[in-house]
Amino acid sequence: MIPNIAAFKTLIKDRVGLHFFNGMEGLLNAALHQRIAERGKESFEEYYEILCVSTVEFDKLLSLLTINETYFFREPDVLDIICDKLVPRILEQRSGPVRILSAGCSSGEEAYSLAIKLHQKYHDKFTDNVDIHGCDIDTKILDKARAANYSSYSFRGVDPLLQQTYFTRNGNQFQLHDVIHNKVKFHRANIVKEQLLPKFDIILLRNVSIYFDVETRRILHFNLLSMLQPDGALFFGNAETLANNFGILKLKQEFGSFYFCQPQASRTQAPAPGVQPRIITPVIPAEAPFVVAPVPSAQQCDSWIKKALACVADKRFTEAEEWIGQVLDSDIDNQEALVIKGAIALEKCEFEQTALSAKHVLEL
Ligand SMILES: C[S@@+](CC[C@H](N)C(=O)[O-])C[C@H]1O[C@@H](n2cnc3c(N)ncnc32)[C@H](O)[C@@H]1O
Repeated sequence: MIPNIAAFKTLIKDRVGLHFFNGMEGLLNAALHQRIAERGKESFEEYYEILCVSTVEFDKLLSLLTINETYFFREPDVLDIICDKLVPRILEQRSGPVRILSAGCSSGEEAYSLAIKLHQKYHDKFTDNVDIHGCDIDTKILDKARAANYSSYSFRGVDPLLQQTYFTRNGNQFQLHDVIHNKVKFHRANIVKEQLLPKFDIILLRNVSIYFDVETRRILHFNLLSMLQPDGALFFGNAETLANNFGILKLKQEFGSFYFCQPQASRTQAPAPGVQPRIITPVIPAEAPFVVAPVPSAQQCDSWIKKALACVADKRFTEAEEWIGQVLDSDIDNQEALVIKGAIALEKCEFEQTALSAKHVLEL
């Protein structure tokens, strides 16, 4: 039992966004016990004081807390869309390089998978056409990404021929060839609080936001808004997209997939491509519609749902949507509200919205 566990949770969430839901508390417990044992015999209170002032110690604890699960060509449909549709379209509109970021890149497999695919497509023009970066909060895992030396565990489901083409076997390990290795640059960055600039044409942020609560995900969206080119595309993991639809970035469906893009109003002039990234602390607009409202009770949500249903029965759909909006504002994953939202959209023949709501409920 850790007496001040809540203080640790708050410190970590405030700094890097990671939220220890009930099921994840065991991970935090184990990591704190491990670090305290490794350091000597500090009390939890003493260790907390050290954590507040020592970035080195914070990073060590963080490496035990991040979940770095990844592998080559994970969720490949999105990689195909980027390589076969989006990058060629951008290159038709302007000269390269197309700037791509794998945010929360872990040990680098996602960024290198894209690089391999793009190399297969562009061969000699690969270097001029694309500029690929990865960033992560975990310094230890970034060392692994930079080393680009992998065990067979990273190649689940990868075509053996492709593995032979781009990697050299050394015992049980596989070393990525320089042509791909040298093309991807890695940076230590906190995607919730820092921006990597200049802006990117394509950002992948897959299997990262699942560790953040709604409040942090909203902050994250404002940050991403500032990092995305006017015509850029931001991809979440397939199962995460709808839970990230806050109306800050615009959800778009294209090529059978969903991604986020800039809302029309915030489009600005793109900076010149080809510049090395710099990391800055973001400015979240003071007037941003990010309000942490008091969480309504379950009874309050039930009452709004009843009001919405009464409106639907009377075919007063706009009013019904307002009640449902109130529920979803406080509980984005409220399944009953999502079903009603989908049903209203169906009544209004808004089939895209119907499909979005249905997909969201199915994912839940
Ligand atoms: C499960 S891995 C995802 C890897 C890869 N994107 C994929 O989909 O296979 C999640 C990664 O997000 C990183 N991460 C968590 N919080 C972060 C933050 N605030 N800023 C940057 N990276 C973060 C973790 O260190 C971890 O390596």
